[in-house]
Amino acid sequence: MHTLPKSPNGGAEPPGTGLIAVSLPMPLLVVGPGQEIVFVNPAAEQFFDTGAGLLLKQNLSDVLPFDSPLFQLIGQARERNSSAAERDVDVSTPRHGERLADVSVTPLPEPEGTLVVTLQERSLAQRMDRQLMARGAVRSMHGMAAVLAHEIKNPLAGIRGAAQLIEESLGPSEREMTQLIVAESDRIRGLIDRMESFGDNRGFSRHPVNIHEVLDRVRRVAESGFARGVSIQENFDPSLPPVLGDRDQLIQVFLNLVRNAADALPETGGEITLTTGYRPGVKFGAGAGGERISLPLEVTVRDNGSGVPPDILTHIFDPFVTTKARGSGLGLALVAKIIGDHGGVVECDSVPRRTIFRVLLPKAGTEAA
Ligand SMILES: Nc1ncnc2c1ncn2[C@@H]1O[C@H](COP(=O)(O)OP(=O)(O)OP(=O)(O)O)[C@@H](O)[C@H]1O
Ligand SMILES: [Mg+2]
Repeated sequence: MHTLPKSPNGGAEPPGTGLIAVSLPMPLLVVGPGQEIVFVNPAAEQFFDTGAGLLLKQNLSDVLPFDSPLFQLIGQARERNSSAAERDVDVSTPRHGERLADVSVTPLPEPEGTLVVTLQERSLAQRMDRQLMARGAVRSMHGMAAVLAHEIKNPLAGIRGAAQLIEESLGPSEREMTQLIVAESDRIRGLIDRMESFGDNRGFSRHPVNIHEVLDRVRRVAESGFARGVSIQENFDPSLPPVLGDRDQLIQVFLNLVRNAADALPETGGEITLTTGYRPGVKFGAGAGGERISLPLEVTVRDNGSGVPPDILTHIFDPFVTTKARGSGLGLALVAKIIGDHGGVVECDSVPRRTIFRVLLPKAGTEAA
């Protein structure tokens, strides 16, 4: 059920106004002077995953967090009595997870104090474009990988050996740490072996992988090492099916993302959130042969750190892009490469205090061959 507010000319709507609002593919709402919702179109019902019947009994602050930047935008529009628009506004809710949308707010002439709010969620096509660009750059890494592999393997063998020596003098409860060192060294070595063939996919194993187990592992490694003292929250969707892929490579992906997040955090109050969600309904027509691809597994790594510097945001998945004195700029290039090999996409949205890396993956058994 949709009810339009009384039209400006006292009831005699121009023909089709209501129909236009109802047919628009973008979510549209009308809010009253106290932010109460007085009209929603079907796209808005879908966006909030709530029927019009319920939404029309609610206030905007019931469906969005009170600190959502949308409220500032509404304030602006009211103050100036003119449209206000902003790109990439955070419209996240605990219920729907992180979402960014281009938002516009326009005051209606009548009834006084009413506003039209439209939301345009960032499209999957946009995400895909950026991702495909990144893949090309990654191919040029072939030679670099061979050099790196050589420089890492030897010291790594030393680290592993030292850990094994230390282990002999430790009590059982402390051995967990040295075992972690040995296991991680082995994993890195395995990865480097594969990085040497960065250009092709030899040695790429595919098994059903439980992403939650991968993320748990990443969290443990992070908390006992580079992210010591940082609060890492898990917000997992228990219905998440397995992904068909390479467990070690997926650990590498999320370790790189969490490591970057940890690097960006402030001295105190830093927080990293790992979220998973299953969205089987999302399909888009971007396959090589024009077929529709479904990437229903969503994993996000969010941090409240400094944010990605805007000037590198569009190149962030290119190799050798770094702002760190000792960074190589290979972390995200590898992330893009591995996720691409898995038939998925990765994208980044970042503003200071809110950086989100979102990985979309196919479900086991449905991925492109
Ligand atoms: N979560 C984040 N918050 C802020 N900036 C980030 C974040 N993740 C990545 N960046 C930016 O992107 C750049 C590239 O990241 P990438 O992981 O590719 O390389 P790096 O971390 O600099 O070096 P390394 O090769 O050691 O990973 C970083 O230098 C940083 O400026
Ligand atoms: Mg990095």
